[in-house]
Amino acid sequence: MEKIIEFKNVSFKYSDEEFDVINDLTIDFYEGQFTCVLGHNGSGKSTMAKLINAINYPTSGKVTSFGFDTSNEENEIRIRQNVGMVFQNPDNQIVATIVEDDVAFGPENLGVPPEEIRKRVDEALKIVDMYDYRLHEPHKLSGGQKQRVAIAGAIAMQTKCIVLDEPTAMLDPKGRKEVMSALMRLKSELGMTIILVTHFMDEAVNADRVVVMNDGVVQFDGTPSEVFSHTEDLKKIGLSVPKPLELALELKKEGYDLGTKILTEDAFLEAFRSLI
Ligand SMILES: Nc1ncnc2c1ncn2[C@@H]1O[C@H](COP(=O)(O)OP(=O)(O)O)[C@@H](O)[C@H]1O
Ligand SMILES: [Mg+2]
Repeated sequence: MEKIIEFKNVSFKYSDEEFDVINDLTIDFYEGQFTCVLGHNGSGKSTMAKLINAINYPTSGKVTSFGFDTSNEENEIRIRQNVGMVFQNPDNQIVATIVEDDVAFGPENLGVPPEEIRKRVDEALKIVDMYDYRLHEPHKLSGGQKQRVAIAGAIAMQTKCIVLDEPTAMLDPKGRKEVMSALMRLKSELGMTIILVTHFMDEAVNADRVVVMNDGVVQFDGTPSEVFSHTEDLKKIGLSVPKPLELALELKKEGYDLGTKILTEDAFLEAFRSLI
């Protein structure tokens, strides 16, 4: 797999803080992978996300995004064309009064011809299942719908990678589900690279890779079942494991061994049925 984002011995300190919040971090992200970044509050997830697309620059070390050194200001536009960002608050990301204008905003700024924009906007809205809302007013949409419009904005820019910083934190369960299924389609239909920062464990079970941050360093990095097998260590740093696994581990204490790879409700039910 091709390496598209590379952190090499990266440290980062906010100017008004004494300590590095990212601490000698070396990590790569690969094309087409869906990576989930987990970690307790203040572990450095948002700071890392902003290092990827040149909102933050390393205090020391080097971040290379799509071949461009993020510390070089001249690369900023090219990096942002490759990496789209979606933030937690859906209301802070709306720039237009009609959904399709909002999605068109990015490509318009790049000088993309109108007929090409039309095509891109329609396709982007279809992928996130918001095409029927193209003429609606964004501020009247639900949180999940607003976040999907924000994601469509990144797709219309034809970014290769999308970084989402807790995009579902302010949403209800329905909105969370809608955003997650939109992300799964970005991966399967567009082959987009997805980096999802979240504190919902169940959103991480569908990822190709789970990265756990703690105090500015990576504590675990592997497949969901590898990472979640460290149940006790995760608890120590303030994280839980997905509910089905938690239940399976409880049952194990009672003598019912369902295994340790139970990450989804379906997997739980299957293992449970074969046990009884
Ligand atoms: N703009 C800022 N200025 C100063 N300190 C900050 C700023 N943003 C975050 N921090 C501090 O950096 C640390 C990491 O924060 P952050 O990257 O937001 O973590 P997370 O997203 O995992 O909650 C925290 O201690 C936080 O207080
Ligand atoms: Mg954060």
